[in-house]
Amino acid sequence: MKRILITGAFGQLGEACIKQLSHRFNILAVDLFVPDDRKSDHTLALDISDRIAVAQVKNKFRPDVILNLAAMTNVDGCERNPEGAQSANVDAVQYLADGFKGHFIQISTDYIFDGNNGPYSETDIPNPISVYGQTKWEADQYLESTECMVTTFRPNVVYGYTKYTKASFVKWVVDSLTAKKTINIVDDQWNNPTWTEELANVIERGIDKKLKGVFHYGGDRVMNRFEFAQIITDIFELDSSRINAIKTAELNQDAPRPLKSGMKTDKIEKALGIRPKTVETCLQEIRNQLAP
Ligand SMILES: NC(=O)c1ccc[n+]([C@@H]2O[C@H](COP(=O)([O-])OP(=O)(O)OC[C@H]3O[C@@H](n4cnc5c(N)ncnc54)[C@H](OP(=O)(O)O)[C@@H]3O)[C@@H](O)[C@H]2O)c1
Repeated sequence: MKRILITGAFGQLGEACIKQLSHRFNILAVDLFVPDDRKSDHTLALDISDRIAVAQVKNKFRPDVILNLAAMTNVDGCERNPEGAQSANVDAVQYLADGFKGHFIQISTDYIFDGNNGPYSETDIPNPISVYGQTKWEADQYLESTECMVTTFRPNVVYGYTKYTKASFVKWVVDSLTAKKTINIVDDQWNNPTWTEELANVIERGIDKKLKGVFHYGGDRVMNRFEFAQIITDIFELDSSRINAIKTAELNQDAPRPLKSGMKTDKIEKALGIRPKTVETCLQEIRNQLAP
């Protein structure tokens, strides 16, 4: 049975990957913290920016596949703490890849692009406009120079909502509107949002097919964030009048955001023979799974 080391395993995407992969692979799920109800022989607390600890875990577990989901993902936090972002998003990738000759799967991001003319294909030229985007792009470039067999998946606006989800856009919208709060959502950021379970499925097929190279991934169509929120309210039967459309500039965030983004999925569709489900189908499946 293949051995897969999953880093950042208790984040948003990690939950979906554990669900997707643990039934047929030998998994070691690591993260900065392991929730009490997830502690087992298959989980471990590991800071991937600790070079020695990473080497020890690799030597002991001897993974065939390293699935690196861990990252400092707080985009404004990265802007305020560039050293921390460098450490988690670049240095740690080097420690994980160091001496590893197996299949390395990295999750990159659309934030490596400037957002002037998305949606983007794999041949478009990156031009990150934030520390987060810059560090993720550095990791992508570093991996190209290693001896590992590398698959780089680049999703955009990853969303999931399960009983384990700490934070996600869908969870925030649903929980806020259920609590009858009014929320402001930008209508000038464009993406094709990516359901974690769809991406986990793509990752599993990528492992089976020993897929090599860079692949963009996202949902079935590009929409702005306000439109996405409207679809969430439709599916979850919530009051959409509590959502105000605003502009990104009004948020005064520390890091600039790529506005016209989105990821073209032709290459991965062809490589794996898949089609992303509609965003409505994905959200309905999430709602069904959450039902008691
Ligand atoms: N979310 C999106 O919209 C999006 C879009 C495109 C690409 N991505 C990429 O997809 C991947 C997964 O994203 P996600 O949404 O699942 O993010 P997430 O929910 O923030 O999960 C990332 C996990 O990594 C952990 N982590 C951070 N620094 C670490 C370190 N030094 N050592 C070990 N673990 C560490 C985090 O722990 P803490 O929570 O305790 O910090 C968290 O549990 C990331 O590589 C991200 O860059 C995400």
